Amino acid sequence: MSVTATALQSVAYAVAGAVASYFAFVALLTVPFVQNQVIYLNNVTLTWFKDVNYPEQWGFLHNQVTPFHLRTGDGETLHAWHILPPGLWQQHAEELIQEPAGLTPDITARKSFELLRDDPDALLVLYFHGAAGTLGSGHRPPSYKAIYGMEPNRIHTVAIDYRGFGTSTGSPSEQGLKTDALTLARWAMNEAKIPPERIVLFGQSLGTAVAVYMANHYAKLPEPVHFSGLVLVAPFADVELLTATYRVAGTIPLLEPVAKFPKLLAYLNRFIRDKWPTKDRLAEFIRLHEEASSGSSGSPRPGYWVSILHGEDDYDIPWAHSEQLFWHAVNATEPAGISFEELEKEKPESRVDMGAGGWAVERRTARGLVKEQILKNGLHDRIMGYPAVSLAIYGAFHHGREPR
Ligand SMILES: *[C@@H]1O[C@H](CO)[C@@H](O)[C@H](O)[C@H]1NC(C)=O
Ligand SMILES: *[C@@H]1O[C@H](CO)[C@@H](O)[C@H](O)[C@H]1NC(C)=O
Repeated sequence: MSVTATALQSVAYAVAGAVASYFAFVALLTVPFVQNQVIYLNNVTLTWFKDVNYPEQWGFLHNQVTPFHLRTGDGETLHAWHILPPGLWQQHAEELIQEPAGLTPDITARKSFELLRDDPDALLVLYFHGAAGTLGSGHRPPSYKAIYGMEPNRIHTVAIDYRGFGTSTGSPSEQGLKTDALTLARWAMNEAKIPPERIVLFGQSLGTAVAVYMANHYAKLPEPVHFSGLVLVAPFADVELLTATYRVAGTIPLLEPVAKFPKLLAYLNRFIRDKWPTKDRLAEFIRLHEEASSGSSGSPRPGYWVSILHGEDDYDIPWAHSEQLFWHAVNATEPAGISFEELEKEKPESRVDMGAGGWAVERRTARGLVKEQILKNGLHDRIMGYPAVSLAIYGAFHHGREPR
């Protein structure tokens, strides 16, 4: 009798202890420093013992990639890679091989830069990577190679390590990453002199939030700037939904127990510093274009082109985030709006079924296109190297324009 009581008592203590440590952990999430470790993971570099100034280590041709520095207006130094497409490298191999390797003190003096700036047909992808790691980690190098896949003489990529990542200075924050993105865009348009119609913004995971911010920021300027397109791989709707669905190491649902109590979740979300409201920014971006077309004054804006791709087996960020984003985007094309359920009913009309390859739906208006493509496989990162992504980038460059 008393033995059972003692046993029950220890079980009760164990349960109480577990519950208490869970809540202590949830409380810890309200601390900005801890949030940064969850959202940005910039201290996990994943390219330990490798010098990110020698990209040949990740399978690039000699001097195919030029590492250089960008300076932000608020005094940070960002590490960047300019990746030449291999067809172009081959045409100029002799000259490129003779140039000094490693970090260049002056990118404008390099042959690769000249090949970008002086070619009126050059296309440029501005690349915003996900959380953790550096320019050289994981599936990023294969991803750069997939990007130029469709046009190996033409598509250049410039990728950056945000502040606090890799060898870039500073530490990350939403404001900081926005500044970093704008610094890259200004470099592309003012230094490399690539007009926005020849620029596509690419983001994966955290990078999708940066890319959407940037597209919207430029579309809202008094003199709007419109990039050719936006390709978003494994995006998240906003940080609020991200924390609610986040799983540690892809398995332990962090806040799902809390998410069952919307009021508690909303309370916790008040403490989140960096909100990255991508779904709202994307909707605003699309509304700007849609409303401009029906307006009477001024010239119509160039069309928007947004491609969202997600793996059904992505356990870092569930593909439900892409469903949310697509819905908010489509909702912004309808003056009276559309509910999530109504949209689900309409989806079969435009749905293209690709069997084991997944499926795609799109919404096309007179002003632009938003497309959602769900691949059966691809996980969170591997998908970036898939031909579906190469094709999405190709499409983002060539809508309303004849391929060369
Ligand atoms: C983690 O990153 C921050 C920048 O965000 C840096 O100041 C700090 O030194 C890094 N810590 C470690 C242990 O690398
Ligand atoms: C959908 O669009 C309508 C009309 O613009 C708007 O009133 C509504 O807030 C939007 N819904 C969401 C969830 O953003």
